[in-house]
Amino acid sequence: MSNERTNIASSRHSKNTHKNRRKNNTFVPSIKTIEKHVYSYIFGQDEPVKQIITSIYRGIVFKSLNSNILIIGGSGTGKTETIKQILNVLNLPYTIEDATKYTMEGYQGKSVSGMIKNLYKNAGKDIEKAQSGVVIIDEIDKKSSKTVSNRRDISGVEVLNSLLKIIEGDKVEVDMDVFLDTSNLIIIFLGAFSGIDKIREKRLNLNQVGFLSDKTTASSILDDRILKQDLVNYGLPEEFIGRIGTIIEMNKLTVDDLALILKKSKLSIFRQYQKELKKMGVVLSFNGELFYQIAQKSLLLDTGARELTNTVNYVFDKIIYEVLSNPSKYRRNSSKEPYTVCYMDLDIVEDNTRYRMSK
Ligand SMILES: Nc1ncnc2c1ncn2[C@@H]1O[C@H](COP(=O)(O)OP(=O)(O)O)[C@@H](O)[C@H]1O
Ligand SMILES: [Mg+2]
Repeated sequence: MSNERTNIASSRHSKNTHKNRRKNNTFVPSIKTIEKHVYSYIFGQDEPVKQIITSIYRGIVFKSLNSNILIIGGSGTGKTETIKQILNVLNLPYTIEDATKYTMEGYQGKSVSGMIKNLYKNAGKDIEKAQSGVVIIDEIDKKSSKTVSNRRDISGVEVLNSLLKIIEGDKVEVDMDVFLDTSNLIIIFLGAFSGIDKIREKRLNLNQVGFLSDKTTASSILDDRILKQDLVNYGLPEEFIGRIGTIIEMNKLTVDDLALILKKSKLSIFRQYQKELKKMGVVLSFNGELFYQIAQKSLLLDTGARELTNTVNYVFDKIIYEVLSNPSKYRRNSSKEPYTVCYMDLDIVEDNTRYRMSK
């Protein structure tokens, strides 16, 4: 009984919030502002970034139904970072959940409410704020009927179907007598979907060979984006796919992209080393080609921008040790004192002793 009253009260409350939100639309930063912010962190993803911002924007400004988003992209292409940056500017609470951690048993038990509870916590236990928040569910591709390998997790697809409940709008108790209405949440699914290229290619090739099955429409067969029918073929249930409003595909990062990330991103680990060394009295001197050398080496592994960290750590390992173990040698005692110059050879990517200090 008391639960029911709370439900009614909270749903009336959330209606008021929508009105406020519409009135307060001016407080939502403009798309251009968000774009500019994200582009100082994320490189090589201009088009996907625009699409992601637009989809989230529609979700919050117009409360669009079906504002759920699926982002497909390999490891280290910037899926998670892009969303984090967008949500930071929008000041929206979010939680990032790993789909593989949800088994059917767990799901039926505490886990699903766990997801929503995490969002509530991240919103500072502000129920209104939380109800306009974002749930990010990573590794969703691992729940396809074709990739589920774990015996305990044969219910992968059932988990997806259970997620439909949140998507369609549920009331989840997040605190004593506090219910979170999930109907206005934006749900973002992330996944690498390795192998989906082959499925898409197969569809496109059907066209060339001239086999048009009754089911395949002429327009879909020409479309080189990933389509819902490709996701069905990948093993995701149709009911689930039907609930996804927008499918966005990240680009594969090229050598040029990786070099640009090192050179320009606010998250660049190279720039971080550069700053730290300067604080210790050392400035770097190197040929700009070094960024390409590091990028090239990192690209050998198929983990996008992730491998940059390892390569850059290797490159600076000996330099940092040298400076940290002789602090007084390099420290400037006044701002008039010159910096020590560290000349980095291009070969430093292969042999991290290939540098020379000016003193
Ligand atoms: N396109 C990109 N531009 C700049 N940095 C990137 C890009 N993609 C990934 N990174 C960096 O690599 C790391 C991993 O990125 P993440 O967004 O977590 O990748 P994933 O696509 O696997 O979610 C982040 O710290 C981020 O700084
Ligand atoms: Mg990620």
